[in-house]
Amino acid sequence: MSDKEKPVRRSQAWFGRLDRDGFIYRSWMKNRGIPHDQFDGRPVIGICNTFSELTPCNSHFRTLAEQVKIGVWESGGFPLEFPVMSLGETMLRPTAMLFRNLASMDVEESIRGNPLDGVVLLMGCDKTTPSLMMGAASCDLPTIGVSGGPMLSGKFRGRELGSGTDVWKMSEEVRAGQMSQEEFFEAESCMHRSHGHCMTMGTASTMASMVEALGMSLPGNAAIPAVDARRNLLARASGRRIVQMVKDDLVMSKILTRQAFENAIRVNAAIGGSTNAVIHLLAIAGRIGVDLTLADWDALGHKLPCLVDLQPSGTHLMEDFYYAGGVPAVIRELGDVIARDALTVNGQTLWDNCKDAPNWNREVIHAFNEPFKTEAGIAVLRGNLCPDGAVIKPSAATPALLKHKGRAVVFENSEHMHERMDDENLDVDENCVLVLKNCGPRGYPGMAEAGNMPLPPKILRKGITDMVRVSDARMSGTAYGTVVLHVAPEAAAGGPLALVQDGDIIELDVAARKLHLHVSDEELARRREAWQAPPAPMARGWVKLYVEHVQQANLGADLDFLRGKSGAGIPKDNH
Ligand code: FES
Repeated sequence: MSDKEKPVRRSQAWFGRLDRDGFIYRSWMKNRGIPHDQFDGRPVIGICNTFSELTPCNSHFRTLAEQVKIGVWESGGFPLEFPVMSLGETMLRPTAMLFRNLASMDVEESIRGNPLDGVVLLMGCDKTTPSLMMGAASCDLPTIGVSGGPMLSGKFRGRELGSGTDVWKMSEEVRAGQMSQEEFFEAESCMHRSHGHCMTMGTASTMASMVEALGMSLPGNAAIPAVDARRNLLARASGRRIVQMVKDDLVMSKILTRQAFENAIRVNAAIGGSTNAVIHLLAIAGRIGVDLTLADWDALGHKLPCLVDLQPSGTHLMEDFYYAGGVPAVIRELGDVIARDALTVNGQTLWDNCKDAPNWNREVIHAFNEPFKTEAGIAVLRGNLCPDGAVIKPSAATPALLKHKGRAVVFENSEHMHERMDDENLDVDENCVLVLKNCGPRGYPGMAEAGNMPLPPKILRKGITDMVRVSDARMSGTAYGTVVLHVAPEAAAGGPLALVQDGDIIELDVAARKLHLHVSDEELARRREAWQAPPAPMARGWVKLYVEHVQQANLGADLDFLRGKSGAGIPKDNH
């Protein structure tokens, strides 16, 4: 190719200049021994790293980044690693979700403001995946996702322990007096025994599967354990591949089409994925300009079966899922249901990548016509209690409670819930519906994973482990129960949830997609007159910006001014 025909890469707006500014851009880079020929127009690849010791799930990402770099060098690219805000699900208060959009802005501006032609996203813990995908989608460069991989299965006294899921179970056992404090401590060391993210089909595993189903990673990305050598191989192969993607101008919007999101919704149903995926995919679609709605989740996914028997809906863990064949095997089982033309980062379609994928264990990945659970996708509910929708994950619920009418026991916020829940005088029985308000995007703020409220001890002592629960909160992807989530509009925004009172009758009918508050319109209007919005949580900084601009759950809880494609236009220099 003659020099005239060579494509002018984005990075050349920095490194290709002959003037004073070109000197500045190159010279400072040379301070660690970068040779001059690295600035000759070869693809410059950003490695967006969410390593942090405060994000235990991503603590092995330095190794992973090194592998990506080797791959980039091997393909003739120029890798440049950069850090972005990392969101540790277990550490970050009040909730990592409060900062998802902030981290996405860090990613977006870091990409746009720097001399990058393509990007590799290193993602693992729950919110690191959507925040990186959202930020990168806003820029729309050639981009490839590399997940950190799940931890090895937890092992405790001869049985398997799943992250999150078994914490909920064991903490209820301690509260019910069935497990000692010493045993509880011992289980801590047994649950998380290797690098990696939660190894149940929680939000991290779900989002890694979504990245793969969207076509944004190489096949097999979601399930390879973090400490398996093949995780390093995948990182290295991704480094090699991104260089070619830049040469082919395979930008994110060519992969993240409407078809890709439809496939992801279907795969989410088949893996029994987290309800958090609903919010994150809606937000990612919003950034890339794909018209995806809450209703699409029901229309595309609800009728589909769950094929994968993994905690929290089932019994196995991600290690088992990998050995059984992972996401490629699930996609092959889905067969005709998959949109076959959806393109992926390796240049082939999703179907071409997966059509011959073996399924090594049908106890873990069931056949489509012998599913683990039928009609298991996320159901979207409507009714006077949730005019803009609410969601429930039927595969994690008690079947008998999917149609239920009960008396509301109301908690005004999470503090009120903690105060009242253990009160032996709380007027509650197992037929009641627990209602939690003010835990939505604006109200908490940040939309807490508080929707799977603990049950009152007197109910637990009867051996009852599930009740219908309704809130504007989210739920950990590792949690389970008959839990209605993401009620929109949220209570803090004046949604009808704000008007529910103790003793009101609430009707849930998942088959009819109905969530109804049996209170007359006149009475609701009277209550609305008397309703006062809760005080704003904080009047400064990020939280102020967030509360003023966050959208409701049915729109993905993104900031209103971040929706829509913006691209990777090159900012002017400042020298
Ligand atoms: Fe990081 Fe679960 S805490 S994935």
